Amino acid sequence: MAGKIHFFCQECGHRAPRWMGRCPECGAWNTLVEEVTPSRRVSPSAAFPSALPITQVSLDYEERLSTGMAELDRVLGGGIVPASLVLIGGDPGIGKSTLLLQVARNVAEGGRPVLYVTGEESARQVRMRAARLKASSPMLYLLPETDLEAVERAIRSLNPSLVVVDSIQTMVKGDLSSAPGSVGQVRECAACLMRLAKATGVAVFLVGHVTKEGVLAGPRVLEHMVDVVLYFEGERHQAYRLLRGVKNRFGSTNEIGVFEMREEGLHEVANPSSLFMVRRPGGAVAGAVVVPTLEGTRPLLVEIQALVAPSTYGQPRRMAAGVDYNRLVLILAVLEKRLGLHLGNYDAYVSAVGGVRLQEPAVDLGIAVALASSFRDWPVDCRLAVAGEVGLTGELRPVSGVARRIREAAQLGFTRCLVPRANCEELDAARLGSITVLGADTLAEAIDLALE
Ligand code: TYD
Ligand code: MG
Repeated sequence: MAGKIHFFCQECGHRAPRWMGRCPECGAWNTLVEEVTPSRRVSPSAAFPSALPITQVSLDYEERLSTGMAELDRVLGGGIVPASLVLIGGDPGIGKSTLLLQVARNVAEGGRPVLYVTGEESARQVRMRAARLKASSPMLYLLPETDLEAVERAIRSLNPSLVVVDSIQTMVKGDLSSAPGSVGQVRECAACLMRLAKATGVAVFLVGHVTKEGVLAGPRVLEHMVDVVLYFEGERHQAYRLLRGVKNRFGSTNEIGVFEMREEGLHEVANPSSLFMVRRPGGAVAGAVVVPTLEGTRPLLVEIQALVAPSTYGQPRRMAAGVDYNRLVLILAVLEKRLGLHLGNYDAYVSAVGGVRLQEPAVDLGIAVALASSFRDWPVDCRLAVAGEVGLTGELRPVSGVARRIREAAQLGFTRCLVPRANCEELDAARLGSITVLGADTLAEAIDLALE
């Protein structure tokens, strides 16, 4: 569809015929982005819009396509929805191409044609990776191409069930003059693929890089356009990778999928709960405690470690890895003010084991207990798990899904679980397994119980 090129201000929507450094309307700098305005054609249906009573909208079950990986299917909300656009973001080298090549292989082996568009690597490079992944189905088509119109033609002639575009930042649409990876190109290419998906029913996976420097247009620009946004994360030097839903029009965004990067590709980790703990045959050590976290519907037991040591320089250092830095600072202040722990002259380091990133507030109590344990150099019983949100007045606030957390801890051999007292009322002791539940109203009480 041919159209006119205009420049639109991302702040106020002002339209300009050419690029300018500053928007003449709102005065913002560097906000003008190139866009194609499609030439309008009035179709008869546009003249008489056909609104439907909601009761007449078809509810026919859309058959989803399995990715062949249960972990990914679950994060997607039960498989790939035809005609949908899914964006997978993540740092370079985290394993996006590997994951999608495996999905492409699985779908192709199921007898459906798959088109893998590679704009970053040559067909030979992809073929070499495919050999490691044992992906050699004749239904898997490779297209080394960055021109979006060529991709469009390939989709129309092949009529695949799935298209992978690796990556969206390398694609260019001929009628735009801006560079590949710029906001205008990325958005226009994604919009074009979206129209194609809706028109032909093909499901499209887009790879998007996130760079710290902001040189490439990050996938954030795309988030509102696509149906599903997943982030692939983890420490590059560790084998575990987490796939997290950020937006999903067809399912929950709380689910996470866990994978392990091996020599021959990504392996699903179906029961990840014990991955993020350290086995200590010698017994407990000071500064470590396990938290039954609940990111999504599946509990995950994660060890939180803290090190509190006297500062050698004036300003004490605080460092958080895998937990929120601001929560750490807040918890340190609560420990100082409400419990009288004089941490002002101490450095404090906190990390979550195994490269997970924990976002939920139930981790607060784990951070606090680990800090207090390290500060007092007194270990926490290694068969005790803790969960709770810490408030500014030093109170413990209830957490969600507490029964599920406790059951998971019981299953992995924990004998006691410390939770906010407000959570104890909702618990049915008979259904928890062989575990003792301890309740506490305040952080002070909880720390006394944990470090007794
Ligand atoms: P890749 O999928 O290329 O990352 P991305 O597309 O996100 O940039 O994978 C990156 C890393 O994964 C690379 O350092 C090599 C490693 N890897 C394995 O360990 N095993 C494998 O089977 C494959 C294909 C890659
Ligand atoms: Mg890649």
